[in-house]
This record gives sequence, structure tokens and C-alpha cells, in this order.
Amino acid sequence: MKDLFGKALLDYYNGNYTEDIITSTNISDEDELPLPYLFRGFKDMPKLEQKALKLAKGKTLDVGCGAGSHSLYLQQKDIEVKAIDISEGAVKVAKQRGVLNIEHKSILDETETFDTILLLMNGTGIFQTLNQVSRYLLHLKSILNKNGQILIDSSDIKYMYLDEDGGFWHDMNANYYGELDYYISYKGEKETPMKWLYLDFNLLDTACKAVGLKCEMLAEGEHYDYLAKIFI
Ligand SMILES: C[S@@+](CC[C@H](N)C(=O)[O-])C[C@H]1O[C@@H](n2cnc3c(N)ncnc32)[C@H](O)[C@@H]1O
Repeated sequence: MKDLFGKALLDYYNGNYTEDIITSTNISDEDELPLPYLFRGFKDMPKLEQKALKLAKGKTLDVGCGAGSHSLYLQQKDIEVKAIDISEGAVKVAKQRGVLNIEHKSILDETETFDTILLLMNGTGIFQTLNQVSRYLLHLKSILNKNGQILIDSSDIKYMYLDEDGGFWHDMNANYYGELDYYISYKGEKETPMKWLYLDFNLLDTACKAVGLKCEMLAEGEHYDYLAKIFI
């Protein structure tokens, strides 16, 4: 990984903002991911993220914290929060922005336990592929305190495969339609392609049940997106 995501966050934070990250997937054309969005304050966050932050309580883990926007909000609200990210650049930026407890690591390497675990901005993306969901859920379960909660958002992207007449165009022999190849480029450099998973609520619910977890829909957004609570 070249960590172009982290490089872009560092550029923005250090006043070298000249262009945005370009993203594309195997089913969609190039799109811009505006860097200021990754530094959003509470007011500019989607309603689902605001709801998740309001529900966070106890010792909280912000998984894939990026520039640390969610962690900073929770810190201000006197919630004990730890942030982690696999992007070295993101960790540097979040630290410099004031996130106090932060580590450069993958969720799979986290061993402390928490009352709330947050996975936001398509939290299921971190699972990468459908066949890895149970591995990640089992790990999250193992670091969840009694009466704890996992708050996670995602979207059902079936709409991306619908034609004008409402027909669903997806090869039934192919992988799950929410499993995307994700490409990032920044300032002319291309990141190593990665997998990024959008998981519809029913599949998330089924996957949770299979590993002994409960799953509840907390809120639905305006565009097939949702916030779910997972608990034991
Ligand atoms: C879409 S960004 C979201 C950033 C931030 N949560 C936000 O809402 O602005 C996803 C983040 O997850 C991080 N990430 C991906 N896989 C991870 C893993 N296995 N463990 C921890 N962080 C991960 C990425 O480096 C990236 O910063």
C-alpha cells in the first residue's frame, strides 16, 4: 500500500491542498472524494453518523478513524475514545489534530475491549469481501464488553445495477453485488487496487446471526444507506 489516502490527508492538513482523491470502482466511473469532507465537523456529518456519535457510550473504539473527525467529537463530549487506522498518514494527521489515544494498526490486531465500537463511512468496507465478514464479526465480538454495541453504517448498492425499467443486471454467478474493486489515485499516482464491501442490511443481519450476534436497524438514510447496531 502506498498510503495515498494518508498522503492526501497530510497534504490537506499541512496546507498543501491542490486536488482531491479520485476514486473509481469496477462498476462506476471516476469520482472525486473531496478532502475537506474527511475533516468534517459534527454539523456537516450525515444524519446516520450524527446518530451513531450520539449513541456512543463508555470506552469507545473508532475503527478506521481517518483524519479523526469522529474521535475528536467524542473527546470533546468527554467520552473515552481510542482511534485506530491502517493508514500511517491518517494516524499522523489525527494525532496532530488532537486525537489523544491513537494507534497505527488493523482492527484485526486490536486486543483491548470496548463498550462501543464505531465503524463509520461505509463501515462494512473494512471487511473487504463477503467471505471475510464472519472473520471480522467474530473478532469484533471478541473485543466487545458485556452489554456493548457495535455501530456500523453501510448501503445496499443494488440500485447501481438497475436499468431504466427497474431490471436488475448482475451476473448471478459472479460475487455478491456489493463486493467492489476499489481504485484510488492522487496527484497522478495510483494506489494498489483494493476490495471494498457494501453490505445490505439483510445480509449483515444473517452474517451476525451465524456468529451469535444480534443486529438491529437503527436508522435508514435517504439513499439506501443505513445505520445498524450489533450486539451480543
Ligand atoms: C472511508 S475511510 C473513513 C475514515 C473515517 N472513518 C471518516 O469517516 O472520515 C476508511 C478508513 O478505514 C481505514 N481502514 C481500512 N481497513 C482497516 C482495517 N483493517 N483496520 C483499521 N482501519 C482500516 C482506512 O485506512 C481509512 O482511513
